[in-house]
Amino acid sequence: MKGIVFREFGELVTARFGDAMWDALISESKVPSGGVYTAVGTYPHEEAVALLMTLSRKTGASPDDLLKVFGEHLFGVLAHRYPFAVAAHADLVPFLESLEGVVHVEVRKLYPDAELPSFVTHWEGETFILEYRSARPFASLAEGLLLGAIAHWGGRYALTRRSMGVPGAHEAIFELRRT
Ligand code: HEM
Repeated sequence: MKGIVFREFGELVTARFGDAMWDALISESKVPSGGVYTAVGTYPHEEAVALLMTLSRKTGASPDDLLKVFGEHLFGVLAHRYPFAVAAHADLVPFLESLEGVVHVEVRKLYPDAELPSFVTHWEGETFILEYRSARPFASLAEGLLLGAIAHWGGRYALTRRSMGVPGAHEAIFELRRT
């Protein structure tokens, strides 16, 4: 996982819970990097999971809820840092339709070692469907990113997550309906 994700996670933890919490996460999670993340570096995603589990234990919030909050925050950071991804789209759905074929393709050009999920989109009547699949267990991060994207385009969609009946959170089906 790219260092930018770790650094933003560290920023959010520090802003919400203070420097001491971030220091405690690094030492108690015993992450091999020692918590030194450069924006362009790549680190095992297991380090992110370890930090998340420690934060969950220390705050009492579930890992999924923490990932969702982080995803919402991360969307704003990505939109600001990579304006090409969002600026071309007047609304949420065309942006989401471009995720697989444009946005994450460009991300891979910038970072050939990026570990990205895959997305399939389609309409079911009035409902827009986005299917998330990944080798990593970050469906709740995707949910938070989607909430951030909905807010970015004016909050005119309701998001629900449908279970795919597969254990773990490597896959999810999201439904978006205009409100
Ligand atoms: C709602 C929109 C988006 C969703 C749902 C989404 C979903 C995700 C998820 C869940 C991950 C974690 C890796 C995984 O699950 O396998 C990820 C990684 C990433 N995404 Fe997206 N993404 C979105 C928009 C964007 C945008 C706008 C950018 C910026 C151009 C972006 C750039 C990245 C980068 C840099 C990573 C890290 C790759 C790595 O760590 O190796 N994403 N994305």
